[in-house]
Amino acid sequence: MNDIKDVLGLQTNTDAEELVRQKKCIEAAKSIVDEKAGDMGRKLTYHVTTFGCQMNARDSEKLKGVLESAGFIYEDDELSADFVIYNTCTVRDNANQKLYGHLGSLGAVKKSRPDMIIALCGCLTQEKSAYEKIMRSYPFVDLVFGTHNLFDFPRLLVSVLTREVTKGKGHIVSEIWEGTDRIVEDIPVKRNYPFKSGVNIMFGCNNFCSYCIVPYVRGRERSRGSDDIIKEIEALAADGVVEVMLLGQNVNSYGKGLEGEISFPELLKRVEDIDGIKRIRFMTSHPKDLSDELIDVMASSDKICRHIHLPLQSGSTRILKAMNRHYTKEGYIDLAQKIRDRIPGIAVTTDIITGFPGETEEDVNDTIDVIEAVRFDGAFTFIYSKRTGTPAASMPDQVSEEKVKIFFDRVLAKVQEVSTRQAALIEGQTMDVLVEDMNRQDQMLVTGRLSNNLNVHFPGDASLIGKIVPVKLTECKGFYYLGDMI
Ligand code: 5AD
Ligand code: SF4
Repeated sequence: MNDIKDVLGLQTNTDAEELVRQKKCIEAAKSIVDEKAGDMGRKLTYHVTTFGCQMNARDSEKLKGVLESAGFIYEDDELSADFVIYNTCTVRDNANQKLYGHLGSLGAVKKSRPDMIIALCGCLTQEKSAYEKIMRSYPFVDLVFGTHNLFDFPRLLVSVLTREVTKGKGHIVSEIWEGTDRIVEDIPVKRNYPFKSGVNIMFGCNNFCSYCIVPYVRGRERSRGSDDIIKEIEALAADGVVEVMLLGQNVNSYGKGLEGEISFPELLKRVEDIDGIKRIRFMTSHPKDLSDELIDVMASSDKICRHIHLPLQSGSTRILKAMNRHYTKEGYIDLAQKIRDRIPGIAVTTDIITGFPGETEEDVNDTIDVIEAVRFDGAFTFIYSKRTGTPAASMPDQVSEEKVKIFFDRVLAKVQEVSTRQAALIEGQTMDVLVEDMNRQDQMLVTGRLSNNLNVHFPGDASLIGKIVPVKLTECKGFYYLGDMI
């Protein structure tokens, strides 16, 4: 046990030293887990439940990597696992409510299985009021940590596994940091798909859109060094990955603040040069920072997918100003047109919020205008959710539920009309599909994705998964295609 105390207490100065310490913690966790497994006569199991965005999905792969390196094996049913971790989201209130629902069910299970360990991490834990609610109302939670110390999960895991030694049994192990400048590379990762992977290129956000809680829970923007990113993608390619999704809240400002660093389009060119990588995606682009250089690089690339996700949020210049978005209705339409002109066949998708404070019918008309002018290939539509601590939460004229519903239904109907029309444009063509999975409903079919991000279902078997194959798009079903492999 002295060894474990040493590992927990160690101080480190550099990110590289920190990685060594975390690896020692994984070894320490493994010896505890192996001993418990020996006593129980079976392996210990884990389940990771992920809420929210692609960033969280990627973070969960890191949690899984650590847990598997520490000797846990995956359990599909979250209510049966020995170690359950929720990677939470708080971008809208319904994400919080979903978590509380899950915790309620798990609390009941824990009464009969007190040895079960329940952990929470991710964005919700960084929000003060939600954190306080967890501490107050869910005392059966064993471990809570935030977005800034995810790299510290191995050490926290040892802490929670050895609570008798470190903190006293029954006590919640909890560490939330306000921020960090640490970027610890090479924490183990267990990928959800062998053939595709997310890759963080930056963390945090500096934009402070007035409705958004992300800058408060994910902290200031920090870019990873390009050499580290390239090294990671080369290793992924060597391990069979053919598609990477470069992840950041605002990828177009990649590299800012890093000395001697390169721009996002330059990073894309370097990724393009990596053998074995066949498709490159990225998420998310802020319209205000999207450069002509990026459009040029996309236009001349063989590997960058024909898809850009470009959150609009609102089509009203007045509302955009109140949202602190730094572009206008006309500016957005011109940008989307420029992208479509330069990159034929590209799909443009977006996020739209209805019900932002002060929104009127005229503002919604502007949003509808933009949807028609841009011809979005897809859109996520959200009802504005008031997030405590953001500027919009204290703005006057919060829109009534009744009105929001009318606005939301109008926007959704228009988006569906336009995107169905867009999807049908490629019917009859033959296009490359990256096969991702067996079809959930029909085991005679496989499911894959076009470069433009549309799903295609076609007859095939599991041997196709991870391959890129030509498929004739025979029947458009609105948001997806049925096809036949050529
Ligand atoms: N209410 C509703 N939607 C929001 N989003 C971010 N914050 C809020 C909020 N408070 C949406 C934005 C963003 C997406 C990830 O979530 O559309 O692009
Ligand atoms: Fe939130 Fe705006 Fe940052 Fe996106 S760009 S994470 S919407 S603050």
